Amino acid sequence: MFIVSGGNKLQGSVRLSGAKNSVLPILAASLLNRGESLIENCPDLSDVQASMEILCHLGCVVKKDGKTIYIDSRPMNRCDIPDELMRKMRSSVIFLGPILARTGCVDMCMPGGCELGSRPIDLHLAAMRKMGANVDDSGGAVKCSSLKLRGAEINLSFPSVGATENTMLAACLAEGDTVITNAACEPEIEDLQNYLCAMGAKVYGAGTSTVVIKGNYELHDAVHSVVPDRIVAATYMSAVCSAGGCVTIENAVPAHLKAITEVLSAAGCVIKEMPLGIVIESYNRPKAVPHIRTAPYPGFPTDAQAPVMAALLKAEGASVFVETIFENRYRHVGELMRMGADIRTEGRAAVVFGVENLGGAVMECTDLRGGAALVVAALGAEGESRICELKHIDRGYDSLEKDLKNMGAAIKRVEI
Ligand code: EPZ
Repeated sequence: MFIVSGGNKLQGSVRLSGAKNSVLPILAASLLNRGESLIENCPDLSDVQASMEILCHLGCVVKKDGKTIYIDSRPMNRCDIPDELMRKMRSSVIFLGPILARTGCVDMCMPGGCELGSRPIDLHLAAMRKMGANVDDSGGAVKCSSLKLRGAEINLSFPSVGATENTMLAACLAEGDTVITNAACEPEIEDLQNYLCAMGAKVYGAGTSTVVIKGNYELHDAVHSVVPDRIVAATYMSAVCSAGGCVTIENAVPAHLKAITEVLSAAGCVIKEMPLGIVIESYNRPKAVPHIRTAPYPGFPTDAQAPVMAALLKAEGASVFVETIFENRYRHVGELMRMGADIRTEGRAAVVFGVENLGGAVMECTDLRGGAALVVAALGAEGESRICELKHIDRGYDSLEKDLKNMGAAIKRVEI
């Protein structure tokens, strides 16, 4: 449990760890080169631990030394992921493409839904079929086989991050070229491309909606450093807006945070962009932001919706959120209302009526970013808050309370 005493302004500087949503596909991609990889700047997260367990299960040698993970994927000798490992982390579906490409077979259970919604993988499976795989997704399992994947033209009906990544990984070992149109443009896709190219793959266009992969190149050992986590940066920016103060986020990439910067500037924060890093200041009561609509990158990221909502609970006026990516991503609202927040949700929309003050409360994390939102709100509330079910937060933040404490927040983790 976190115990947070609100009211302290935040000061000082903080460094971001590597991005969760980049290191997870990169660890899966390490299967492709039948060789050694050294992945640096890895965050220390339970989802990273789960990925390492899957790589070990598949036969790889995996070692973690601080923020660096060493993988030797030469000894890989299986193509299945057992249910208990799949259930630990639904984004294990990102292993589907590389396992299929490397071994010609896959046997895993459906990842299943999570707190955010049903989380289908139809786009992933359609892409594998397009590349020539036999895919049987009946009965809650996913069994694929293919003698040799063939490059294909794959248009995604939705710019799915995971489907883009799975297709890129499968295409690296396919015969011929693959062109992905309507691909997701998130910075983590570009980071994955950089790692694949470091292995000797020929991948172009990541970060735009058209990604080209020339298949069947001999891949070799690679070293790669993971890009800083822009959603953790958005969380810390939200914390400054909520509690007030002035914080430097040393290794933030301003270009990755444009949509967040736009919203928090509209709320009255002063944000200075540096070549590498940003400084964010907030000294007055935030102003409401009338329309925040989540969208695929470079739009406002769905992962920042909950933390930014928490930052606007005491804003002057009403803020309106529209969550267009996931069907059930307002589970943090009920918990925030325990602090006296005034929020109305209707389907994909949520209206936040700013209140003068929030009071500390006992709350439970409902999901990863929803949990971070509770911390952001507690920093700006009067009195003490107690936040439980931290396993959700530990999936995506490897030093939340340490970083916030270094910025002057009164927060501590106690075992219950
Ligand atoms: C990635 O999930 C991230 N996870 C999510 O971050 C993030 O919220 C999401 O992208 C959107 O940016 C990782 O990178 C590990 P999608 P992913 O495929 O790949 C629908 C966090 O908090 N869809 O872009 O699963 C899907 O239902 C997590 O760090 C299909 O319909 O996201 C959803 O509505 C949460 N069919 C939408 O697309 C498919 O085959 C976006 O999903 C795939 C997706």
